[in-house]
Amino acid sequence: MINRLLSFLDASPVNFLAVKNIADMLEAGGFRRLDPCQPLGAVKAGDRFFVTKNDSSIYAFRIGSQPLAEAGFHMICAHSDSPTFRIKPNAEMLCEGGLVKLNTEVYGGPIMSTWFDRPLTLAGRVIVRSQDVMRPDTMLLHIKRPLLQISNLAIHFNRQVNDGVKLSRQKDVLPLLGQITSQLEAGNLLLNVILEELGKQRPVSREDILDFDLYLADTASACTFGVHNEFISSGRLDDLSMCFAGLEAILAAADSDTTQVLGIFDNEETGSQTKQGAGSPFLSYMLRRIALAQSGTEEAYYQAVERAFMISADNAHAWHPNYPEKYDPTNHPMLGGGPVIKFNAAQKYASDAASAAVFAGICAKAGVPCQRFVNHSDVAGGSTLGNILASSIPLRGVDMGNAILAMHSCRETGSVRDHEYCVKVFTEFYNM
Ligand code: CO
Repeated sequence: MINRLLSFLDASPVNFLAVKNIADMLEAGGFRRLDPCQPLGAVKAGDRFFVTKNDSSIYAFRIGSQPLAEAGFHMICAHSDSPTFRIKPNAEMLCEGGLVKLNTEVYGGPIMSTWFDRPLTLAGRVIVRSQDVMRPDTMLLHIKRPLLQISNLAIHFNRQVNDGVKLSRQKDVLPLLGQITSQLEAGNLLLNVILEELGKQRPVSREDILDFDLYLADTASACTFGVHNEFISSGRLDDLSMCFAGLEAILAAADSDTTQVLGIFDNEETGSQTKQGAGSPFLSYMLRRIALAQSGTEEAYYQAVERAFMISADNAHAWHPNYPEKYDPTNHPMLGGGPVIKFNAAQKYASDAASAAVFAGICAKAGVPCQRFVNHSDVAGGSTLGNILASSIPLRGVDMGNAILAMHSCRETGSVRDHEYCVKVFTEFYNM
């Protein structure tokens, strides 16, 4: 089971690739891709389908034997994006000696120092000319070789480096792309690499490339480590590990009375307020369309929302043996201790006593332990998509996630056992 997660992480360096891989696995599992431009048509019990938005968010549905209005729906949500660096337009910066570095912009909140001195590559999507100006083509790009590196300053130029460094997002984190060998290459280095890579999919000319959304990605593979191979080392565990657990669960689940929904949103790391983020009404439109197709009234949708339950799955902080003072004295989840329910008095998390009791009940039914997280009261902590979604679809639900170390590092640490637990609990939830 863990090898499937590791392969998914390696094949999904950024949101666009993650969504493509999820779509491929859904199709292989009998889910039909629907075009949201077309009428939904009749919706029957047992129907399985999915839609995507912006190529970076994806929503899958397995229709229950009872209509939404009568049985509600069981929804698992997670996010496809992770902190990284976006390549800016006109990115090439020619420096002395023909060295070319790339101008980038920080995406989300990475621990920037963890991106230094490791082979990096590019991944994302390239927009390519088609016959229709309003509908250009999209080609996905994942260069599978070391292409770039953000190099540190030698310690001899900064003797205080181990006492902590302040990093500029504009100066310190620009990666080296290459060294030009002729003036013809100047300004074309990045485009040449993109053209060569896209050419492996189909012939594309220079003039056809209109724009791109490209990001830096680690080239090292995800792996397990530890004496018993009990830990996972990978980038993007936040939140692709939760996306994948949800995917495994909806593929493994059986048809049931209740409709099963998997919602993978983009842009959680930048606040979710985009058409493909959890702040978008897109998912509520889809649910409304399904309810209308089943029952012919808008009323059915409102009933469905009242009967539904949401699990917002985003990773939690595991107790770190080097920094015990950062954690709440009585609620600090352990790696391998099972899924974590997250609470926050200021309501940054959707969980409350009622929804937590439901989730703990599902864990008990699945034979899986569960843990609870709250912040140390002097530490601000984070937030996630659960309550952003709940503010447009007022769902009863819980914020949870598997505990990891080094959240937002280029390589985070998770637990193999927790992944297995999580798939079990999610499958149980869908089957209820
Ligand atoms: Co997250």
